[in-house]
Amino acid sequence: MKLVRAGHEYKGCCPFHKEKTPSFTVNDQKGFYHCFGCGAHGDSIGFLMNHDNMSFMDAVEQLASLAGMQVPKSSPADEQRYKQQSGLYDLMEAATKYYEQQLNDKKNKNILQYLKERGLSSDVIESFRLGYAPDGDADDLQKSLIKAGFTTADLLDAGLFKNSSRKQGDVYPFFRNRVIFPVLDVQGRVVAFGGRVLPAAHGGPAGKDAPKYINSPESVIFHKGRGLYGLSRARKALGSGKVAVVVEGYMDVIALAQAGFKAPVAPLGTALTEEQIEALWKAMPEDNKTPILCFDGDAAGQRAAARAMERVLPILKPDHSVKFAFLPEEHDPDSLLKAEGRPAMERVLKNAISLFDMIWQECAKGRDMTQPEVKAGFRAALTKRARNIADLSVQKFFMSEINQRIEGTFLNRKTAVKSPAKKAYHKGKPVTPGLNTPYRPDSVRVAPVKSRKSRQLDRMRVLLGLMISYPALYSEFGESLGMLPMADTEYDNIRQALINLLDMHNNLDYQAVKQHLSESGHGKILENIFNDALYLHAGFIKPGQPLDVARQAWQDVWDIGFRGAKTA
Ligand code: UTP
Ligand code: MN
Repeated sequence: MKLVRAGHEYKGCCPFHKEKTPSFTVNDQKGFYHCFGCGAHGDSIGFLMNHDNMSFMDAVEQLASLAGMQVPKSSPADEQRYKQQSGLYDLMEAATKYYEQQLNDKKNKNILQYLKERGLSSDVIESFRLGYAPDGDADDLQKSLIKAGFTTADLLDAGLFKNSSRKQGDVYPFFRNRVIFPVLDVQGRVVAFGGRVLPAAHGGPAGKDAPKYINSPESVIFHKGRGLYGLSRARKALGSGKVAVVVEGYMDVIALAQAGFKAPVAPLGTALTEEQIEALWKAMPEDNKTPILCFDGDAAGQRAAARAMERVLPILKPDHSVKFAFLPEEHDPDSLLKAEGRPAMERVLKNAISLFDMIWQECAKGRDMTQPEVKAGFRAALTKRARNIADLSVQKFFMSEINQRIEGTFLNRKTAVKSPAKKAYHKGKPVTPGLNTPYRPDSVRVAPVKSRKSRQLDRMRVLLGLMISYPALYSEFGESLGMLPMADTEYDNIRQALINLLDMHNNLDYQAVKQHLSESGHGKILENIFNDALYLHAGFIKPGQPLDVARQAWQDVWDIGFRGAKTA
């Protein structure tokens, strides 16, 4: 066929009907042809099937050979494996139905009651196909599966039953007296189960030695590190650009789904693997491949986040990334949603930091950046991370970002003036600072043309802005904030409100602090504090920088402006 380029597509006379002016188009990007005349439509395989009347396999083979590839022939072993796999899928499906029925059985209403008490709706219970595996004696899963034509060997292969050590040939159910969470593969087939122990009040074991969750062993259809809980449900939403939220547990995924989050997923009781991140990227659209990884706010969560960071570096690709979000220390997503509702979780996600900021923060941890050799060690730690990025283009940009930020953060006044933003500022022409304007210790010194009073006001704004953006500074600098001489009543008022707030709550993030303040009537002055000029010459105030940076900034401003000054 003769095709000519027309914009994003190719055009030609349709081979499926007679015509003189071309209405047949081929869209190479989207991989299909379409005729506006007769409606013929399909992909490359379909084209060969329709136009050359080939069978599907012939079309595939012809296209493969055009591309210089060979279609692998399936061997008898492949077929054997295929048969075994499809048998296992059927088996898992039958078991899922059995567990679902048990949960809905009146004699187990105590179990359903437990799920309801945890706040799960009937809809969510049904849509996640939750179930109940009865205690040993009451369990007739084996009977019903054998009746349906499965063999005892199948039950063992699937990990649903174990060989008894007491009596040769006897098997016993793996899941006993547990809530069942079916695990689906991307295509929505059940491939494994998680089973949660019940609390004693709901008929669970009285002692505490039973593991909270047990999970199906690996099988020919289930590989722990590959799948993600919730992924098949999330796929459609991911395709349409909804953000992927990676959490830790089964219950977190379900609670997020119930709260209206469209694409929550979780690894299966292990740390997030490279394969799982790749699977997520694959399900996300080209222009949005940045899932948010959520971690607990405690030390274990920080460690898990650091591990995830190390793991993602080697597999980074252009436009592929992850973000890191941290939960308040005492919560997981499920409990946070229950305690504070959806807005609290949204705030957590909104405060997610970029991969680069995460690396910066990790490397800054425990380093006393006032010392030059420590700064050098810091830079070395950063570049070591960047060198782990296999994709050279991404690596290059990480390296240059490191250099830029190091310079912006640690360089002295003279050199810093060389940066274009600086120059423009000194000429009095404000320019928009870079997205993540780094902390520039020198930049807090304001231009000399200003009066002493206005400089003092500037510094107050910076300190108030810092404390609002980094409420964690309060424990260390709350006292000095209280002593700060405030030349301005409005600043004084907001300072008092801030102190009252942070005295009462020690775990607020900056979004929450801002919200509290503006709800208690300080909106105007907040705007005044956080105007563009502030970010221009004190970019380090932007939330999401390492706390060490904020701490250092506070000290610098304090030293320049207020040390030895008469206090309030
Ligand atoms: P958590 O202990 O945080 O449980 O484990 P959870 O999800 O908050 O569960 P609830 O709210 O107490 O019901 C997180 C995940 O780690 C795995 C499970 O996948 C769990 O969802 N896990 C945990 C296990 O595999 N085994 C365990 O003994 C505990
Ligand atoms: Mn939980």
